[in-house]
Amino acid sequence: MPKDYCAARPISTLVDTNLTAWDQDYRLRGRLWGSSAKGMPDLPENARILELGCGDGKTLAALAGSGRKVAALDVSLQALQLCRSVSPVAALILADACRLPFKQESFDIVFAFHVAGHLLLPGRHALAREVSRVLSSGGSLFFREFCVEDMRAGQGMETEPGTFRRGRGILTHYFTKGEVEALFCGLLPAIVGTHRWNLRVKGENMLRSEIEATFLKI
Ligand SMILES: C[S@@+](CC[C@H](N)C(=O)[O-])C[C@H]1O[C@@H](n2cnc3c(N)ncnc32)[C@H](O)[C@@H]1O
Repeated sequence: MPKDYCAARPISTLVDTNLTAWDQDYRLRGRLWGSSAKGMPDLPENARILELGCGDGKTLAALAGSGRKVAALDVSLQALQLCRSVSPVAALILADACRLPFKQESFDIVFAFHVAGHLLLPGRHALAREVSRVLSSGGSLFFREFCVEDMRAGQGMETEPGTFRRGRGILTHYFTKGEVEALFCGLLPAIVGTHRWNLRVKGENMLRSEIEATFLKI
């Protein structure tokens, strides 16, 4: 049953989620994340899947495309409205990834692609605790975030070590592998790698770099 944008719990004000900045960005620019999600893992047929910070549905489109039951949440209502056209069947929930409105062990798989990096340190810790809580034993977390060597690291105003505020106010934290492992220390790291690619910017090759990790709950 598609669940439309119901705010299951009040959005936390303890953690700076840059909510207004995200909402404004989606309102002004519409769909923000082009192309399709690459390198998606094979997933068991009946897995209960949750995506945190689904944005306008780039990853969700790949997850829900095969007819799987997926729940996806975001703090931005604008983002969820854009998601609905991408996935008519996913349960879309207005919620904070730092305070998940689900019972423990509700999901077999959690995707956190480029959401933890938009939180300050207390928010990243809260997200990590919540992921461990809602994952079932044997479940997996798939994680992606930009790495300290990415071309954008260091741009903008540094608000915390390694975290920068740019443009309309969106925060981005750039991770090291060790930091990712430490963040999810309650889970078992199965893969923690770095994915690098070049982006042509004004005729120059610039390095994009993200940490891709899979953690297991044992
Ligand atoms: C870079 S987009 C991620 C897009 C998506 N995961 C994908 O793979 O295409 C980051 C998203 O995280 C959302 N976000 C930021 N803070 C959040 C929070 N505390 N809880 C849930 N979503 C959040 C933003 O609204 C934004 O849509």
